[in-house]
Amino acid sequence: MKAYRAAILRFDAQHQAVFDKDGLLVVGSDGTGTERILAVGAYDSLIENYVQVPLEHLPGRIIAPGFVDLHVHFPQIDVIGSPASGLLPWLENYTFPQEARFADAAHSADAAQFFLTELVRNGVTTALTFATSHPASVEAFFTEAARRRMRMICGKVLQDRHSPDGVRDDTVQGLVDTEALIQRWHGRGRLGYAITPRFAPSCSEAQLRGAGELAARYPDVWIQSHVAENKDEIAWARSLFPQSRSYLSVYDDFGLLRARAIYAHCIHFDDDDRALMRDTGAAAAVSPTSNLFLGSGFFDYSGADRVGFRYGLASDVGGGTSLSPFHTMLAAYCVGREGQTKTGLSLSPQQLWWQHTAGAAQALGLGGVVGNLQPGCEADFIVLDPRCTALMARRTGQAASLEELLFAMIVLGDDRLVARTVIAGAG
Ligand code: GUN
Ligand code: ZN
Repeated sequence: MKAYRAAILRFDAQHQAVFDKDGLLVVGSDGTGTERILAVGAYDSLIENYVQVPLEHLPGRIIAPGFVDLHVHFPQIDVIGSPASGLLPWLENYTFPQEARFADAAHSADAAQFFLTELVRNGVTTALTFATSHPASVEAFFTEAARRRMRMICGKVLQDRHSPDGVRDDTVQGLVDTEALIQRWHGRGRLGYAITPRFAPSCSEAQLRGAGELAARYPDVWIQSHVAENKDEIAWARSLFPQSRSYLSVYDDFGLLRARAIYAHCIHFDDDDRALMRDTGAAAAVSPTSNLFLGSGFFDYSGADRVGFRYGLASDVGGGTSLSPFHTMLAAYCVGREGQTKTGLSLSPQQLWWQHTAGAAQALGLGGVVGNLQPGCEADFIVLDPRCTALMARRTGQAASLEELLFAMIVLGDDRLVARTVIAGAG
């Protein structure tokens, strides 16, 4: 067992932020080898039960849940900042050529190591990530994530058409490789597999059907894809699948909407699409830096809340411009303001933070497992230093409320704010 004394941020069952200015976090093994939160709360009320436990005092620091990135592409770490007129030229000119390099196991291993180091530096402890169409990219990613004992979810991309040589897979072989990777990696330690059709335009009907069959056969495996991101992409999907009611419905028609299915973007939806998300239990990965960078549009928060489907925040690197959850939360705030004129509401810093931690975990079906610091959660957390820069120290020093403190960190924060990242109780 080990105890930490610091300010502590966590969330209650109603998604409200709970902040102990002088808190105690107790971490220890649950008996099966998993390090978990054993107790959390005010230092004064808890310490008498834990006087024998080694204590680390972190004055001036804030302990918070590790962030959960609901949608990211680890092989696109070298694509960040590649400008294009929109999604489809960006894929063609920058993304596919980079992803073709992941046929090489050594390149995959190098990129996986670099990416995971960057994630950890930014305070992200769980991510749902695309690999590429090459099984070697998934092997490399899971091998490195297992070495670090991280809770990570990844999948081999399925894309058997409308993709260039070097990234296109074979319809049947892609499905065979997917099932072999599920059996090899899903549930091993803290790793999980995600069936990963890139997006409907890049997959034949046969491949989507096969993906849906795998999703039915392995119900606790995740599904990840893209939908309704860009107007040209939507027109293309509609022309390829004219029998489906909408782009989102294509996935439903192939059995790919269910709990544990995460769809990136979900921008250009109507209320029937929103209801379909809600009724199937699928969730949206809101990716504001990517949507702004690629000019894709603005996620409609008020529409999502009105109909009531789940969503969480995501970097979507390399369409996204940063792995930093602070940058993502700030962009989400600005996008929320876009809808403010219609609803009179904008997102609070507590809501933004929840969407990138406990809310994202809940969207994955991992509520109570990661993304929070309640007893029973796995011991993945970060230590923030609100004095990490002169401006941050000056600004947070004047925060008169939790809201002001969180806002200052969201607006001014980046990797420098994350003093330490603890994974499975270590670090
Ligand atoms: N749609 C299909 N593939 C991709 C991708 O790699 N990134 C984004 N943002 N959208 C996609
Ligand atoms: Zn994406």
